[in-house]
Amino acid sequence: MAAEGKNPTATLTDNTTGDSWELPIFEGTTGPRVIDVRKLYAETGMFTFDPGFTSTGSCESKITYIDGDAGVLMHRGYKIEELAEQSNFLEVCYLLLHGELPSPKQMKTFETSITYHTMLHEQMMYFFRGFRRDSHPMAIMCGVVGALSAFYHDSTDIRDPHQRMVAQHRLIAKMPTIAAMAYKYSVGQPFVYPRNDLNYAENFLHMTFAVPAEEYRVSPTLARAMDRIFILHADHEQNASTSTVRIAGSSGANPFACIAAGIASLWGPAHGGANEAVLNMLMEIGHKDKIPEFLKRAKDKDDPFRLMGFGHRVYKNYDPRAKVLRQSAYDVLEELGAQDDPLLDLAMELEKIALEDDYFVEKKLFPNVDFYSGIILKAMGFPTSMFTVLFALARTVGWVAQWTEMIEDPHQRISRPRQLYQGYTGRPYVPMKER
Ligand code: SDX
Repeated sequence: MAAEGKNPTATLTDNTTGDSWELPIFEGTTGPRVIDVRKLYAETGMFTFDPGFTSTGSCESKITYIDGDAGVLMHRGYKIEELAEQSNFLEVCYLLLHGELPSPKQMKTFETSITYHTMLHEQMMYFFRGFRRDSHPMAIMCGVVGALSAFYHDSTDIRDPHQRMVAQHRLIAKMPTIAAMAYKYSVGQPFVYPRNDLNYAENFLHMTFAVPAEEYRVSPTLARAMDRIFILHADHEQNASTSTVRIAGSSGANPFACIAAGIASLWGPAHGGANEAVLNMLMEIGHKDKIPEFLKRAKDKDDPFRLMGFGHRVYKNYDPRAKVLRQSAYDVLEELGAQDDPLLDLAMELEKIALEDDYFVEKKLFPNVDFYSGIILKAMGFPTSMFTVLFALARTVGWVAQWTEMIEDPHQRISRPRQLYQGYTGRPYVPMKER
């Protein structure tokens, strides 16, 4: 620790010149300390170098804290296990946006605002018509969410706190409507409008699975499971898609465009696309007798195959969300009378074998949030192609909360990383006739 009264610093020494510099060390309320390198280039003429940002803090934040070694996830100081057990998704949305659990009056006001923003401008229906029916729903989400800024101009001035709040509520409220429409479009069924007498998860299930031909009764167990899945996916610190939203927002882009950028980043199989990839992997493995063959491939450096749903940049312990989802998988499958779902059995066996395998133990590869979510979603009737859409639906509140925190930071600047240049250092143009 620094000598009494002195501000903590890290000393950087260039052993080729003997120059050295003192860099301030900052401490948060918990978690790793940081070395402030903002003046490094000005003082040393050197950049830091950290592709993939394995050791880089990009911002200060009060929203979500992850302790990867202990397997802890907190939103505004509340543990994810307690929120998943005792809260509901809209209350978690309020908490993420405002930093405190709402009073009954605050909750009612917030819930009413979200409820009355669930409808889409009718003209947006025509956007869907431009897609092929077999389009991946995530492609539709990228397009339609980005297009929201073409319809809601009155909430795109990011300097106006009221417009920021309206944009926040519109995005949280309309994502389930757009997601359900993407599903309906892909199965050739008519769109189902939102209903103000249903809660957030019930409304989404109704818009997704109801048909005009008959009454659709939402199962309270499925609605509770859906709500819990939304809670578990709401926010996760500075992950790839959240960092994408922050960087897009740092240029002053409107919130709808920033969220569309987040959706695009989440789509990747290394990130939110993993839940879809887990199901496809389990289907490919097919039987537990084939698990050793796939584990062998996962460990083979020459084979691009990875065990989807395992490993995490931050968690080097069990992802606490995976633990909750593992239990929810049982509850939902039991409710559906599908407790002997062969996919769940296969997943449990795969988890057991992987967690006893030296490679996975040594590299601290545990199941992550995506490992069990797909099994539940499939049992609930969602096609695999909708899994990442549901992740994007839930993560919208996290993206919006993080975007707001960035916009409201008085020290916020455009994000503009540098590089280690390895290209040509100058050469004359060669006219075509001489090549
Ligand atoms: C999410 O960041 C977030 O918070 C994301 C997320 C959120 O809520 O926003 O939590 C959601 O994206 C969860 C992760 C979903 N992705 C997957 O399940 C895909 C499979 N996992 C891997 O692709 C990987 O684990 C990552 C992408 C998740 C993490 O990648 P890292 O941190 O860059 O780790 P790495 O690729 O450098 O792996 C370290 C080592 C490597 O071996 P070595 O080169 O050191 O010998 O572990 C190996 C990897 O080969 N490894 C795996 C593996 N994951 C890592 N080997 C086999 N199977 C795997 N799944």
